[in-house]
Formats: sequence, structure tokens, C-alpha cells
Amino acid sequence: MSINRKGIILAGGSATRLFPITFSISKQLMPVYDKPMIYYPLSTLMIAGIREFLIIVNESNLESFKNLLGDGSSLGISIKYAVQPKPEGLAQAFLIGEDFLNNSPSALILGDNLYHGNDLGPQLKKANKDINNSTIFVYPVSDPERYGVAEFKNNKVINLFEKPKKPKSRYAVTGLYFYDNTAVEKAKTIKPSQRGELEITSLNNLYLKENNLNVEIMGRGIAWLDTGTFDSLHQAGSYIRVLERRQGLKVGCPEEVAWRKGWIKDKELEKLAKTMIKSGYGKYLLEILNDPLKDNSKNF
Ligand code: G1P
Repeated sequence: MSINRKGIILAGGSATRLFPITFSISKQLMPVYDKPMIYYPLSTLMIAGIREFLIIVNESNLESFKNLLGDGSSLGISIKYAVQPKPEGLAQAFLIGEDFLNNSPSALILGDNLYHGNDLGPQLKKANKDINNSTIFVYPVSDPERYGVAEFKNNKVINLFEKPKKPKSRYAVTGLYFYDNTAVEKAKTIKPSQRGELEITSLNNLYLKENNLNVEIMGRGIAWLDTGTFDSLHQAGSYIRVLERRQGLKVGCPEEVAWRKGWIKDKELEKLAKTMIKSGYGKYLLEILNDPLKDNSKNF
């Protein structure tokens, strides 16, 4: 029997940097151009090959997420929900997700992280297949002090620091983590940091010490965007708009991923399309059904 990796999308938090927008609605439901933000991380994990999800949300937003995504069956996947009582760090996802994971290997993605690029698919699939190992991704940024940062020696990562004042490199750890089946056990041993959070960086350092952490570089051909402020939210929307309008192809479209993966059939895609025909989103889904190259869409 093959062991399947399960996905966790962390979509809690209070998004204070987006007040007043996020006073009454979750950040991860905000639009990034033509779709809700959570479509992007969901699509990313689906591209990796994951079909079982737990979405962790604030209690006040639970119904809205359920209205949007339901149980996932229309996308050929399964979605469960859990409430995060208080945001106490990313590693808390593994305490909340313990029963859901039930000893499976996992992938955690932040609900406001957006990835795009041609090499992404193969990198994600490789990380997903490597069931006994753990993989994180680092990406060069101009402001590493805002992130978890890698320290290198002889081209190997030897340590990770959370929001260091003096970063040892420009390589930030992105919000996408693939772990073996010991993440819950390890998360239970983590103590809160000075800012009172169970840091994902502490979990990653535990894996690093065990020599069980692949650190993959996301190259310059990949875009990793976050959406936590007015400007970065707007930039992400502009980026997606420019690409989509030029190519006529959508980024972060879970219906398309499900269909290209063969998890839903033509008829099911058509049915989804018809519910959204007026916005143009549905028209796009109908268009890809008739794409002459649809059978060799290797990137999915
Ligand atoms: C969190 C993690 C950090 C990581 C970042 C990616 O930061 O703690 O290690 O680099 O996500 O977006 P936070 O969301 O707390 O700013």
C-alpha cells in the first residue's frame, strides 16, 4: 500500500497589517486578481500530487471557507477543516492537525503564499514523492530579515534563523514545508520563542540536526510572493493579471489542476464551468477543455 502525504493549509491569523480590510473577512479569502487567495496554495499542493487536505482557519471564518470549498469532492480531493483557537506559531499546525495526519507524512503551506514558475511542478512532485525525507525551499530575497534565513557552509545549509537582525545569507525559507511522519512528535517538543510562537524554524532545525532536511533552492525563474500588506497584495494581483492576460492561461486554478491530473473528468469540469460562466472564469474552464495540446500538459 502506498503512503500518501497529507496537506495542511494554514489560513488562520488576524492579518492586522491589512486592517480594516480584514476586520470581518479572512485574508486568505481576499482576491488575488480573479480568485480567492487560498486557491493559489491549494493549487500548489495539488500540483505536488496531494489530495487530502486540512485547512486551519479562525472560528469566525469557518463557514465562509466551507461555502467556498466544501468537502473538496467537486475537485476530486478531500478537504477537512480545523479551527485555530489562537495563532501561536506555524508549528502549532501540527498539534492541531495531529488526528488528521494520523502518522502520515505531511506538507504545510501558508495560506497567503503564492508560487509560480515553470520549474515548480517538478520540484514539488519530487519533494512529495520523497516520503521518508523532508524538504524545505529557500529563495533569494532583498529583505531576508523578515523571514527564516539559511546559513550556508560549503554550499550546505548548517543552520536556520528566524527573522535575524543580521541575516547570514539572502536566502529566505519560503512558506512551504514537506515533512516525514515525525513532524507532530517533533512539534510537541518545541518551546515558544521570544515572540511567544512555536516557530517553524525550530521544527526545521530539529530536522536539520537529524540530517533529514533537503534544502532546495527555488531559482530566479520562480516567483514566490506573499500578500500580507496592502502593497504586496496589490503586487501579487498585478503579477497574476499581467501573466494571465498575456497567456490566456490561469495561475492557481484548482479546477484546472484537478482536471489535468485526471482527478475530475471533462463532464465534471464542464459542470463547474457553467456555475461561473458570467465572470469569465467559467469560460476559461470551457476553453481549456478544447485546448488542442491538453493531453501533453506535462507541468501538471
Ligand atoms: C513565517 C515563518 C518564516 C518564513 C515565513 C515565510 O514568518 O516564521 O520562517 O520565512 O513565514 O512567509 P511569519 O509569517 O511569522 O512572518
